[in-house]
Amino acid sequence: MDETFDLIDSSIQQYCEEHTSPENEVLYGLYRETNLRVMRPRMLSCKNQGTFLQMISRLVQPKRILELGTYTAYSTICLAEGLQKDGWIYTIEKNIELQDIIEKYLRAAGIADCTKVLFGNAMDIIPTLNETWDIIFIDADKTNYINYYKMLLPHLADNGIILADNVLWSGKIVEQIKPHDKDTKAIMEFNNYVQNDHSVKNMILPFRDGIMMIEKI
Ligand SMILES: C[S@@+](CC[C@H](N)C(=O)[O-])C[C@H]1O[C@@H](n2cnc3c(N)ncnc32)[C@H](O)[C@@H]1O
Repeated sequence: MDETFDLIDSSIQQYCEEHTSPENEVLYGLYRETNLRVMRPRMLSCKNQGTFLQMISRLVQPKRILELGTYTAYSTICLAEGLQKDGWIYTIEKNIELQDIIEKYLRAAGIADCTKVLFGNAMDIIPTLNETWDIIFIDADKTNYINYYKMLLPHLADNGIILADNVLWSGKIVEQIKPHDKDTKAIMEFNNYVQNDHSVKNMILPFRDGIMMIEKI
């Protein structure tokens, strides 16, 4: 069974897994290889979250997608599902050691030609991109979530959507914050900032580790 982040009762989680379509062979191979070969496989999107991203992408039919935090490209492949014929997905990853596995699976998924993998710090790369985004998936360092949001909201298409992962942070957002816990503090500040931004409509989808969905109004 996939990582649950302990937010949902494990039997309910299992039931959900059993009633979600199976992932295709490429995604399953990537899931297996990431767990066998790559450090911190807990960071990988699971089958349920991947299916959710695929469905959102098919609904939005994006021309431009931006992902922050590629890791091994599981979510990249899912997000690309509904990409228009001349569409592009840009994905930013700071860890160059992941390059081989990322490229291998982008090729296996048949999306290498419409994916730009940008290695480096997302904070430095985002200002160099001159695009309007139909889907933005924020899944990199938590301490910059608010900065990513402020930089990217002006570049979100009118009918576009921002998805920010891990906004429930294993439930720590409702607990007493430990003094040096910068990530929880940052996630809480991000969630409050979005909630108080009257230029958007937002909701937290409480599955897996929580996904904040944001659209312009
Ligand atoms: C949670 S993982 C992404 C998981 C992936 N999106 C998925 O769902 O399978 C976070 C990734 O963000 C990368 N990352 C963290 N901070 C970053 C930064 N400032 N710029 C670019 N990438 C960053 C990490 O190296 C890691 O691979």
